[in-house]
Amino acid sequence: MGLLKRKKTDFSVREEHIEANLANSIVYVRNLQKVYSSAKGSVTAVKDININVLENEFVSIVGPSGCGKSTLLRMIAGLETATDGQIVIRDRNIIGPGADRGMVFQSYTLFPWMTVGNNIKFGFKLRKMPKEQQEEIVNRYLKIIKLEKFKNSFPRELSGGMKQRVAIARALADSPEVLLMDEPFSALDPKTREDMQLLMRQIWQEEKPTVIFVTHDIEEAVFLSGKIYVLTSRPGIVKEEIPILLPYNRDLSLKDTEEFVKLRKQVNAFIEHGEI
Ligand SMILES: Nc1ncnc2c1ncn2[C@@H]1O[C@H](COP(=O)(O)OP(=O)(O)OP(=O)(O)O)[C@@H](O)[C@H]1O
Ligand SMILES: [Mg+2]
Repeated sequence: MGLLKRKKTDFSVREEHIEANLANSIVYVRNLQKVYSSAKGSVTAVKDININVLENEFVSIVGPSGCGKSTLLRMIAGLETATDGQIVIRDRNIIGPGADRGMVFQSYTLFPWMTVGNNIKFGFKLRKMPKEQQEEIVNRYLKIIKLEKFKNSFPRELSGGMKQRVAIARALADSPEVLLMDEPFSALDPKTREDMQLLMRQIWQEEKPTVIFVTHDIEEAVFLSGKIYVLTSRPGIVKEEIPILLPYNRDLSLKDTEEFVKLRKQVNAFIEHGEI
């Protein structure tokens, strides 16, 4: 039984594509390049990336394997340094990690010795927050991810999907300006993955986090996003920026509609296949 049932799609409200401009942009990536150097030689992972993410926008990055998606996300997270170019979050040049960015990885990254509640609370230590307020935030996010009963459980007692829900709650509970997600659902079975997509979309509709989401799955990207960047094969550059003009309130039945299938095919046509 899934987390949530399919409902009839409401087409009455449409997401608007807002033209990018300086005033409402949160993340600016300009002429970004990354060259990995080793004794065997150098690899240009990304060549000249330009992307623009607006406040409250859900943006996906798709492209062939090895085109530099994780490298791009890790540079925005400040976990990797750029060889050239610029990353600006609001008016700050990014030169390292910071609490303004939250990250959710593909693999499960919870602290195994901490309970679910303490995992979600982890970032609060840096913020000197009253205990009562901490509990309030933890409880709110446990409710959002539908794991209220697991507050005192340990990660080993959770399924993969449950662990990723806690990882998302932990990242969101820190109120980052940008949530960075690198294939967060790719280790899950197809049914759990769809449940997670629906939950993620509902979280976005309710909380409006600004999200940069990396995925291989075009259907997932179209379902979740307001905008998709397609990268070329390595070295990655932006091949296409595609606005996703689908209803604001989305559920899984949207995937069966003509306009969804059309968009999925449109994005897929830009992906360079045959590259592994
Ligand atoms: N630490 C590193 N040292 C050297 N080369 C690296 C390193 N990390 C990534 N690369 C290379 O950079 C390129 C881009 O890798 P990256 O992991 O960013 O691709 P990706 O688009 O995320 O791929 P996938 O879809 O398979 O996850 C690849 O050719 C990879 O081999
Ligand atoms: Mg990757």
